[in-house]
Amino acid sequence: MELCVRASSLLLGLLLQLLSSVDVVSAAQKFGINYGQIANNLPDPTQVAGLLQSLNVNKVKLYDADPKVLTSFANTGVEFIIAIGNENLQSMAGNPGAARQWVTQHVQPFLPATRITCITVGNEVFSGNDTGMMASLLPAMKAIYAAVGELGLGGQVTVSSAHSVNVLATSFPPSSGAFREDLAQYIQPLLDFHGQTNSPFLINAYPFFAYKASPGSVSLPYVLFEPNPGVRDPNTNLSYDNMLYAQIDAVYAAMKAMGHTDIGVRISETGWPSKGDEDEAGATVENAAAYNGNLMQRIAMNQGTPLKPNVPIDVFVFALFNEDMKPGPTSERNYGLFYPNGSPVYAINTGAGGVSGRTGPFDPYSAQMFSSASRLAMTSGMGVVVLLGALFLRASSARTTQQRKKVPSGFESSFQTNGNQPLSRTIESFPRVTTIAATIQRE
Ligand SMILES: *[C@@H]1O[C@H](CO)[C@@H](O)[C@H](O)[C@H]1NC(C)=O
Ligand SMILES: *[C@@H]1O[C@H](CO)[C@@H](O)[C@H](O)[C@H]1NC(C)=O
Repeated sequence: MELCVRASSLLLGLLLQLLSSVDVVSAAQKFGINYGQIANNLPDPTQVAGLLQSLNVNKVKLYDADPKVLTSFANTGVEFIIAIGNENLQSMAGNPGAARQWVTQHVQPFLPATRITCITVGNEVFSGNDTGMMASLLPAMKAIYAAVGELGLGGQVTVSSAHSVNVLATSFPPSSGAFREDLAQYIQPLLDFHGQTNSPFLINAYPFFAYKASPGSVSLPYVLFEPNPGVRDPNTNLSYDNMLYAQIDAVYAAMKAMGHTDIGVRISETGWPSKGDEDEAGATVENAAAYNGNLMQRIAMNQGTPLKPNVPIDVFVFALFNEDMKPGPTSERNYGLFYPNGSPVYAINTGAGGVSGRTGPFDPYSAQMFSSASRLAMTSGMGVVVLLGALFLRASSARTTQQRKKVPSGFESSFQTNGNQPLSRTIESFPRVTTIAATIQRE
């Protein structure tokens, strides 16, 4: 087995060398990906680095600060967002020593070889009902921010937190976006912090949830970035042809209502499952390929939202791998672009200039990223890389099954509020979107 690994590793190395010598035109904006590890069958991070390099991915978001991953990506140029789990917030809030120790241990040793650019403190803290945790969030962020500064890393590492879009009480029309009133006491000072520290506001946004909750009334083309009449915001006259952009602009409006026009919004998670339970409408391979493919096309076009046309959307797709140990409905375990063995779950057409709605064959290494002369060579070459990668990963699966990832406590629950929101909450968040979508369908 060792021999097999070495042989395929050698081949893979040769191929990557060959491919990198091809004239690569990297005009396209690259996208980010969430590298979740709630699984018992994922490949070794050293192999994942190669897989990501073969994709057009240059940003990775982790849910922890796995030293093995951070080490594996040294000198790759890949940017990392790393995370402090919800379970650590209370102990870090107002505890400079603990915060400083965390940064000293989880950030400092990997810089500058691994490009850690952001630390997210907590995930979807406001989606739960733990008010103690909510109250700890900002103090924990401030403690980490202070530690980053004291260690001289302030210029390179920002501090943020990721929130579900259901922190909004109103999300449509986007210009009426508003945060939940019960969260204002936490979010107002949080926004002040973001403004002062020039850090982005991160949201996890899943138009899939809106569709799943009301498949009869939410327009599928509208949530999948496929051609549709769009929805006009009556207050601004801006027209929205997809729900994700409407959600982003709703967050901008909500921040503006709290006095902040100085904070950027980024999508820390979005995605679409390729499989779900019987009652999970829309969770299909075709829809997942359309959602992610169309989204990647728009990222490649440096597109902004109607409200911020000159600010390209900044997106981390969820997720790199299917994660077999995630609790909840079947969809939860099927958000991955890849199976754990490195083979793609579906073909994605990231497009070669089409705006949206293209459903052509898999061509991720298209003219957008590579010169046309090298395109054919690239496409076939990449196919081989993926195959070899799969072989490579399978050879070492015996090893990786022993490195079962420990699920940190608190993480599961944060995921439950994320990917597995109670239906009522989801519906609550999108009532007006649903109404509008119904209007579209009637037209
Ligand atoms: C918080 O939510 C959990 C699960 O959603 C529930 O079991 C618990 O009773 C809630 N606690 C409070 C104080 O509402
Ligand atoms: C939107 O368009 C309508 C009709 O064209 C116009 O009357 C209205 O003033 C516009 N509103 C804004 C905010 O531009």
